[in-house]
Amino acid sequence: AWSQVKAGPPDAILGVTEAFKADKSPVKINLGVGAYRDAEGKPYVLPSVRTVDEQIVQAKNDKEYLPITGFPEFTKQAAILAYGKDSKPLQDGRIAITQSISGTGALRIAGAFLERHYPHSKAIYLPSPTWGNHIPIFKDSGLEVKTYSYYDKNTVGLDFEGLKKDMEAAPPKSVFLLHACAHNPTGIDPTKEQWKEISQIMKEKEHFPLFDSAYQGFATGSVDADAFAPRHFVEQGHQIALCQSFAKNMGLYGERIGAFSVVCESAEEKARVDSQIKILVRPLYSNPPVHGARIAGTILSDPALYEQWLKEVKGMADRIITMRTTLYDLLNELGSKKEWGHIKSQIGMFCYTGLTADQVAKLASEHHVYLTKDGRISVAGVTPGNVRHLAESIHAVTK
Ligand code: LMR
Repeated sequence: AWSQVKAGPPDAILGVTEAFKADKSPVKINLGVGAYRDAEGKPYVLPSVRTVDEQIVQAKNDKEYLPITGFPEFTKQAAILAYGKDSKPLQDGRIAITQSISGTGALRIAGAFLERHYPHSKAIYLPSPTWGNHIPIFKDSGLEVKTYSYYDKNTVGLDFEGLKKDMEAAPPKSVFLLHACAHNPTGIDPTKEQWKEISQIMKEKEHFPLFDSAYQGFATGSVDADAFAPRHFVEQGHQIALCQSFAKNMGLYGERIGAFSVVCESAEEKARVDSQIKILVRPLYSNPPVHGARIAGTILSDPALYEQWLKEVKGMADRIITMRTTLYDLLNELGSKKEWGHIKSQIGMFCYTGLTADQVAKLASEHHVYLTKDGRISVAGVTPGNVRHLAESIHAVTK
């Protein structure tokens, strides 16, 4: 039956892990997928997560199905985390929210919801570049994928003029995907002033903002600072939709825990939107898994655990920031003539190095250093133990 099925290419990000696993060198480094490692290069389970995990085992909970939209204590807390407890639409009870299979699942529900219910367009504008998976997620949802200017390779910075021009030129009421913070893959975010301008333009053009928030807390170490953009848009009266992931900020990668929310006009509209989200989710996967929701819901609702978690997220963010400085200093110490300031100025999990596809290939074949072809490094995988080998390898391929 499958003789006509052609072999597909490996995944642009997860395929790097496969190549890394096949390498037998003891000095190999995987900086492909965005997964946090501790200073020893080991996967890190947050102590707050360990505590709740143990509580859950002790509680001997049943294994019943969750409701279609998930664990209510989790979704309630996820909305507070994203929008802030003083958020007007939250207080008005007009945010529809559903638990999702991490950020990817939230985006996929968003795609399906927009495709079925957004009356003004069946297209979505994504920044160029964007997270590789955004493109198939929205295509598979039946939307037409378009792009808007984001990265300027000459300045290794934001192409703000190009971005504004593209937003102005798009038909009114177009859907734009915005990375809430720590843009993936570039690590380049608009400044607060630039976000305000973007909000203004989108309001004038009546564009629809869909936020992808996969790194709240990871960019600056503050969950409030990292939520500036979506909260500002909401304050300005935008009825945003938002995709949240708890993979990175709680280290719950394999638990697949996230949320999709829609700010509505009224509680009555919220109830209608909720009902349609249920109708979309039921044939996709019926209802979401429970364990990650219990963990995240408990951490977010228990004041002591919440305080502990905030410190742990900040610890991860700070370790990444320190590694950026160390890598930058080592490249200079090794005598690199290249300008590497962006290693320090970019934020979040990733650094868009500017390395070419050839240089990336050489890093793997000659130095056992693995990253995605676009030259993105997951700084979360850089450690005191491997940073010198990384700097020497980058220097060797860029001389
Ligand atoms: C990444 O960009 O590496 C992460 O978001 C993980 C993934 O699923 O691609």
